[in-house]
Amino acid sequence: MENKIIIGSDHGGFDLKQEIIAFLQNDMKYEVQDMGCYDKNSVDYPDIAETVCNEVKKSGLYGILICGTGIGISISANKINGIRCALCSDEYSAKMTRHHNDANVLALGGRTVGPELAKSIVQTFLTNDFDGGRHEKRVNKIKLLEEKQTGSK
Ligand code: RB5
Repeated sequence: MENKIIIGSDHGGFDLKQEIIAFLQNDMKYEVQDMGCYDKNSVDYPDIAETVCNEVKKSGLYGILICGTGIGISISANKINGIRCALCSDEYSAKMTRHHNDANVLALGGRTVGPELAKSIVQTFLTNDFDGGRHEKRVNKIKLLEEKQTGSK
């Protein structure tokens, strides 16, 4: 995967987003596409999830979404076909969601996870790969669920 990533947050995730962007750029040498928000004015997390996830789908890159708890923004992201968004508050989950679920978007809670743990979760997510094999069949079943819901691929 290219060293480029899409990121977005609502106001509840804004401070953590700024920390994660600096970490990605300075420590992980990633190019970061920041889709907002750009200050602490109140915005609606489904709008940010939609913008980031559409860009993730278009580019094939990973995405990071942050709101206060990470819950609203991850629920929103998972409504979008082709997005497998994992809300993680520990490194083990971040590792396993890449290995087993082939997650393409990581969600974090700006008010629930401290910046150092969040950076470690991000690094773990970006340095682990999908196992395929029996997990491929299961991920394909997630895609089938999407098709059943929408009647389209
Ligand atoms: C915004 O106040 C807050 O509701 C949002 O950031 C998030 O925590 C929702 O799940």
